[in-house]
Amino acid sequence: MRVIIKDNADIVSQWAANYVAYKINAYKPTPSKPFVLGLPTGSTPLGMYAELIKLYQAKKVSFENVVTFNMDEYIGLEPTHPQSYHYFMQENFFKHVNLKPENIHLLNGMTRDFAKECSEYEREMRKLGGVNLFIGGVGEDGHIAFNEPFSSLTSRTRIKTLTESTIKANSRFFDNDISKVPTMALTVGVGTIMDAREVMILVTGKKKAEALKHGIEGAVSHVWTISELQRHPHGIIVCDKDATEKLEKSTVEYFLDIERNKF
Ligand code: GLP
Repeated sequence: MRVIIKDNADIVSQWAANYVAYKINAYKPTPSKPFVLGLPTGSTPLGMYAELIKLYQAKKVSFENVVTFNMDEYIGLEPTHPQSYHYFMQENFFKHVNLKPENIHLLNGMTRDFAKECSEYEREMRKLGGVNLFIGGVGEDGHIAFNEPFSSLTSRTRIKTLTESTIKANSRFFDNDISKVPTMALTVGVGTIMDAREVMILVTGKKKAEALKHGIEGAVSHVWTISELQRHPHGIIVCDKDATEKLEKSTVEYFLDIERNKF
C-alpha cells in the first residue's frame, strides 16, 4: 500500500486530481477502450472535483472516453433531491466536464427492485472490463462507500442499513436533523471496490485519524472495512497531516521517506 501524506486537504485534492488526470492520459482511452473510473461523494472529494474541473478547462484532461460508476446512493431520494448523490455529482462535477451522459452510472435509490438494480450495476462494470481506478473517501468508523463495520470484505453491490454513527455524521447535510437522513442505501461492496485495478482512498481531517490508524496499522478486519485495502496490490491512501495524528511516528516517517520525490 502507498500512503501519500500531504500538509493539508488542499494539497491532497490537487495531488489526487493530478493523479486521476495522469492515469486517464496514460491509458489513452478510446470509445472502444474507455477508462473506467469509480467515484465517491462526501465532503472529502469536493476539492478533488474542483481541481479536476480546472484541469479539464486547462485542456490537461478530457473525460470524453471515460465511464464512471458512483459508489453509492441513498434509498428514497429522488435524483433532484439536493442531498441525493445524483444531485451532488451533477452539481459538483458532471455538469462541468465533457462526460457523456450515457457513460455515467449511479445506483437508482428509487428503484423497486433493489436486487436487480445491484446485479445489473455489477454486470455493467464487468462488461466494460472492470474498473481502472476506484476513488473513495472513508467514514469516521472506517467504512468505504456505505460498507459499514462488519460488512463482508467480499461483499458486492447491495442494499445496506446505515449505522447510527453514519446517520449522525451525514445529518450535517440534512439541516442537522437525523430524522431527515435516509436509513438505507445502495452501495458497491468491499469486494466490488477491491476488484478495481487500482484503489485510491482520500482521508483528511482529525476526525478520520482513528479510521486511518486502523486502515494502515490495524489488522485486516471487517470492523474497519478500509483495512481491506492492505490486501489490494495497488492501494493508495492520500491523506493530510491532521488525519495521521494517531499513527505511530515511525509509520509517518516511513511513508514520508519512501514517497519523497515520487508522483
Ligand atoms: C458517506 C459516503 C462515503 C464517504 C463518507 C465520508 O458515508 N457514503 O462514501 O466516504 O460519507 O464522507 P465525508 O468525506 O463527507 O467525511
